[in-house]
Amino acid sequence: MAQSFVCQTCGFRSLKWMGRCPECSEWNSLLEVPALSRSKAFSGLSVGDIPFDAPPIPLPQLENEDGERITLGICEWDRVLGGGLVRGSVVLVYGDPGIGKSTLLLQISDKLANQKTVLYISGEESTRQIKIRSDRLGLFSSNLHIYTGTCLEQMMGYIDPLKPQVVILDSIQTTYTDRIESPPGSLSQIKELATQWMYLSKQKNIATFLVGHVTKAGSIAGPRVLEHIVDTVLGLEGDRHHAFRILRSVKNRYGPTNEIGLFEMTGHGLIEVTEPSKLFLNPHQEPYAGSVVVCSLEGTRPILVEMQALVSPGTIGMARRTCNGVDPNRAALLIAVLEKRLGLYLQDKDIYLNVVGGLKIDEPAVDLGIILAIYSSLKDCPLPPDLAVIGEVGLTGEIRPIYQCAVREKEVWKRGFRTCLLPSANKSDGKVGHNELNIIHAETVQEAIEFVFEKKHLLIEGREIN
Ligand code: TYD
Ligand code: MG
Repeated sequence: MAQSFVCQTCGFRSLKWMGRCPECSEWNSLLEVPALSRSKAFSGLSVGDIPFDAPPIPLPQLENEDGERITLGICEWDRVLGGGLVRGSVVLVYGDPGIGKSTLLLQISDKLANQKTVLYISGEESTRQIKIRSDRLGLFSSNLHIYTGTCLEQMMGYIDPLKPQVVILDSIQTTYTDRIESPPGSLSQIKELATQWMYLSKQKNIATFLVGHVTKAGSIAGPRVLEHIVDTVLGLEGDRHHAFRILRSVKNRYGPTNEIGLFEMTGHGLIEVTEPSKLFLNPHQEPYAGSVVVCSLEGTRPILVEMQALVSPGTIGMARRTCNGVDPNRAALLIAVLEKRLGLYLQDKDIYLNVVGGLKIDEPAVDLGIILAIYSSLKDCPLPPDLAVIGEVGLTGEIRPIYQCAVREKEVWKRGFRTCLLPSANKSDGKVGHNELNIIHAETVQEAIEFVFEKKHLLIEGREIN
């Protein structure tokens, strides 16, 4: 049968070997794979194409999978999964090495084992290592079964006798199947393994977690092949220098995406953080120039964070723009708006932006916060205390409306802020968040700056501001 060569990074297929992949430009990534027969090749297709052996059924007679959700009572976890784990679903959990994937899944397995039979397969650690870890985490459920091994066919042999309702495979890169000759971790192996687990999960109604490492390029196992195969993709993110970890749902066939769960890494594993704003704010701090409190909506949850800017003298043509936690392109756009619409000269200034706590924010509602932080640092003039700022900024300097105003206002009030600067376009929403919240509406960036730095008395009623 004809051979073909497959790029292990992007999946590009060629009939002859090449030193460099023409698709993704990766060197030495083409590996020879035997061409699969038609029936075998089927298993390489995404789940939508899997021929399940059931005759067509009228829609109303289909079973509601939602009725089979397994909830853990860990809010952060259940919410990210869209209200609990669905039986028969395949969940991919990916993240950098050492971020805490194994720790989180071992803890979750133990919790799940209170209700179900759980099989935890580790291809990376020995049973001794897992024992040390589970002792440290205080786990001892007898319904949690540990298996260490890397061969898919052998693992599958334990499924029928044990009949687990939940399986955790840690990790997909260290496992291999005999059906394919390429080495463990290669693209075709990973695709085949994911598809095999998908089959098994659907057939036997097992909820499966696949752990995947992120490659240098930041994608899961080379290209994002696995994302298409599995039902749910969860990313575990975090900064090595901070203790908190974010579990983000990137794709979910059974719930909303972009939902986040917050955890904190402690000496006894990961514990959930239910009040995130507390983590990112220092409420007793005196206001200082370059600091603005913004409200970002992460999934369905509003989080207040401190946005910091530092504008310092630089050199024309070599001015630095360094961003930590915000998109540098977005920052460049907002700096251009400041220069053009407010006539500021920033080309000889270095600008540093930082989101306190290490959170990464890509919500446009923090735009106005970034603008005000830069302005505040440039003029060395702090914002009034108790002020939170929310609004998206357009290229003409207009402040664009934000959605979910009410939940954000509520969070602002709850965290002790008494004034909120909002887009004029959100005026019709009224004081939906809290009756006593003092709300100022601004239409343009100029107006916002005027309110914040020149007409401070409007912002805080009955308070004297220096
Ligand atoms: P791990 O779960 O092994 O990461 P991954 O599976 O994503 O590679 O996490 C290892 C890190 O977590 C390690 O640096 C030590 C830290 N850790 C704690 O801080 N507390 C704990 O209770 C545990 C088990 C690990
Ligand atoms: Mg691990």
